[in-house]
Amino acid sequence: MWSPFQAVCLRSSKVYRRSVAAALFKRPSRRDANVSPFSHSAGRSQTCRALVYRTHGEPSRVIQLENVDLPPVGANDVLVKVLAAPINPSDINMIQGTYAILPDLPAVGGNEGVAQVLEVGSQVKSLKAGDWVIPKDAGLGMWRTEAVLAEKDVISLPNNIPLLSAATLGVNPCTAFRMLSDFEDLQPGDSVIQNAANSAVGHAVIQIAAARGIKTINVVRDRPEFRELSERLKAIGASHVIKEEALRRPEIKELFKTCPKPKLALNGVGGKSATELLRHLKIGGCMVTYGGMSKQPVTVPVSALIFKDVKIRGFWVTQWKRDQCHDGKEFRAMLDELCSLVQQGKLTAPPCTELSLQDCHKALDAAVQPFTSRKQILVL
Ligand SMILES: NC(=O)c1ccc[n+]([C@@H]2O[C@H](COP(=O)([O-])OP(=O)(O)OC[C@H]3O[C@@H](n4cnc5c(N)ncnc54)[C@H](OP(=O)(O)O)[C@@H]3O)[C@@H](O)[C@H]2O)c1
Repeated sequence: MWSPFQAVCLRSSKVYRRSVAAALFKRPSRRDANVSPFSHSAGRSQTCRALVYRTHGEPSRVIQLENVDLPPVGANDVLVKVLAAPINPSDINMIQGTYAILPDLPAVGGNEGVAQVLEVGSQVKSLKAGDWVIPKDAGLGMWRTEAVLAEKDVISLPNNIPLLSAATLGVNPCTAFRMLSDFEDLQPGDSVIQNAANSAVGHAVIQIAAARGIKTINVVRDRPEFRELSERLKAIGASHVIKEEALRRPEIKELFKTCPKPKLALNGVGGKSATELLRHLKIGGCMVTYGGMSKQPVTVPVSALIFKDVKIRGFWVTQWKRDQCHDGKEFRAMLDELCSLVQQGKLTAPPCTELSLQDCHKALDAAVQPFTSRKQILVL
């Protein structure tokens, strides 16, 4: 029995759980009525290689490279070849079983990546062979060589941008773009402060802000190669790069003699790091929490609420994308703007280490190491 492995556009963790499990081992009912006239070309493999996990746990222990059957291409489906797919913290958390949405098991890992369309079903209107696509939602399981996906579950990208940019565009740059656009009215000359500035989100924040004339104050954890890291971040547009400890020192006042107090703080860490960001926020400013890498809660000093009336917000790009499902115009416009920045050389992919599916355990181990400042990316 073949086993299609595909999740549909997901609306809730319950739906997600059901759809991924059903997708792995059962033929989804909608496929029964939609057997494609475009059955696979003669000679094309009807299985793909995929990184599958059957229990939650440490990714490098529970992930296995397996053969997974591919379903026929339905009328509204596309057959794609995955070209590259990164390993993001949310992929790790999903495999560990600690993420907000979890598939039923077994499941294929990987929420992000770029794929090339090989075949289209008879009713597919928006895509053709050769197009590049990325997932619209989390949960498609991109760590695999090929997939049959519904047209509505993917969105195209120009296929003339660098592969690594395309593979890493759909999550972190989109998160950075939305956080810089949707919370404060930022004008050229304004400033933003962020922690985890060397993360993929941080890289995108620096570059998108720089393209808009917004200054960034970038906070990173100390490390022996702090100077090199600081130079690298400044080379992509960071206005200031400082160590976490420096935020607590009186000398930080010097920085604010030339740089305005930030209207927006972006917190991907939590704990003390978030509290320190709040201390420097402008009166009435906003802190958006999008990640919790320290696994520590955010503590808001009473004084920040009373005397500075700061706003405490959160952001989840998965929810934002789901909210766009009825009308994808804003999503399309954002991707077009991001791709334009990529084409102008103003938005580059974070530093990446490229690995093959066979090297998945090495890649997964590397992805959970601190102080690496590199994104592990599976190139297929
Ligand atoms: N809410 C959303 O929609 C959304 C979207 C995208 C990403 N995220 C979240 O954003 C965060 C960053 O994702 P990413 O893909 O950009 O990450 P990434 O490129 O893998 O980088 C990880 C970052 O986390 C830092 N870090 C790791 N452990 C830490 C700790 N214990 N304390 C402080 N910092 C630590 C690293 O700093 P060092 O170099 O010092 O280790 C690095 O800056 C993740 O939590 C991710 O889940 C959220």
